[in-house]
Amino acid sequence: MSEQVNEQLLDFLAASPTCFHAVAEVRRQLLAAAYEELREGNRWQLQAGGKYFITRNGSSVIAFRLPEEKPSGFMIAASHSDSPAFKVKENAETVKENYTLLNVEKYGGMLCAPWFDRPLSVAGRIVTEADGRLTSRLVNVDRDLVMIPNLAIHMNRSANEGLAYNVQDDMKPVFAQQAEPGRFMQVIAESAGIRADEIIAHDLYLYARGRGTVWGADGEFLSAGHLDDLQCGFANLHGFLAAAPGRSVPVLAIFDNEEVGSLTKQGADSTFLEDTLRRIHSYYSTSEEDYHVMIAGSFMVSADNAHAVHPNYAGKADPTNRPALNKGIVIKYHGNQKYTSDAVSAAVFKTVCRKAGVPFQIFTNRSDMLSGSTLGNLSNAHVSLNSVDIGLPQWAMHSPYETAGTKDTEYLIQAMKVYFSLSLLETETGVWTLG
Ligand code: CO
Repeated sequence: MSEQVNEQLLDFLAASPTCFHAVAEVRRQLLAAAYEELREGNRWQLQAGGKYFITRNGSSVIAFRLPEEKPSGFMIAASHSDSPAFKVKENAETVKENYTLLNVEKYGGMLCAPWFDRPLSVAGRIVTEADGRLTSRLVNVDRDLVMIPNLAIHMNRSANEGLAYNVQDDMKPVFAQQAEPGRFMQVIAESAGIRADEIIAHDLYLYARGRGTVWGADGEFLSAGHLDDLQCGFANLHGFLAAAPGRSVPVLAIFDNEEVGSLTKQGADSTFLEDTLRRIHSYYSTSEEDYHVMIAGSFMVSADNAHAVHPNYAGKADPTNRPALNKGIVIKYHGNQKYTSDAVSAAVFKTVCRKAGVPFQIFTNRSDMLSGSTLGNLSNAHVSLNSVDIGLPQWAMHSPYETAGTKDTEYLIQAMKVYFSLSLLETETGVWTLG
């Protein structure tokens, strides 16, 4: 079972060099599962028993199913579609020493070193103009195209004592041995099957080439780009599709821009989720009072990958909470609530894991280290409900090539399959029923 899941995960990652491609792949799988695509700019005609999804900006997606009976709440699971990468700037070509380099900038906070000395390419979206119509299209130059070569050790003898990278000066990828001006956009246009002068705008990113791989003495490990957070997106999607009907509305949300603070029209700190929940609710009732009742009977799982203890840096982890690869879903806690988990929401999620028969483990930071941030608390600013932060354990987060365990994806699929079929009600003050 796990082997098949891991191959499907590697296929999903290979199809997703950017957030736009990841959402296109989720869309393809939802359409294949007979989900109807809604558009935010049209009136929705929902039906009991219906299966729907919408996208925003082509980089965020929300899917949901309506039960046959009036639901008690929403069972939401969120993850993110974006990963740290180098974004290609406007007018990117720059000539140095007879080579054409590309001018790039950081998107998100990546580990810089692993971007050197490996084949890279460019993917993203372009907007074309023809006959007064602007059209957004995906583009992926599906071949080894650029490289960021290191400086030889002989010219920097202290390189192994730690380097500070200046992205502007040190990390421009080499594109050509002095190309004709405009050649870069020509290559982009050719790969999209159009002329360069048709492209009027672009969001283009570097990505590391090469399919992910399963490795280790017994195939214990899986490495690929974008595990944070497409591993959770993939598992949530497959749990969502496999879940039996329940009394709640299952809601799968995958948001863009988590790596840059989520404050965009399609991020977790936007109105996308709230707008969608309100439109779903309006199928049942126009009463604001009823909306609040339904939100009170709702729950959110914020799924974003977690740090497994690294065997070479074991002292970086908390002394008593030590997540390991292949040991199950990680529930993340933070005293100052950068993670939303609390006793109630963690109890709900632990119960889900027990029902699914999958292991869970706990992450907290060392008390002298700062926490990362994620989706749950930002989303809660718009739709406030019981929420837990979880993730799958991994090493090398924000490297272009990250490592996870080969068992954990299946654990999250099984947990989400159970979760999306449940509903949660506070039947009296301080007493919850999950069933
Ligand atoms: Co993440």
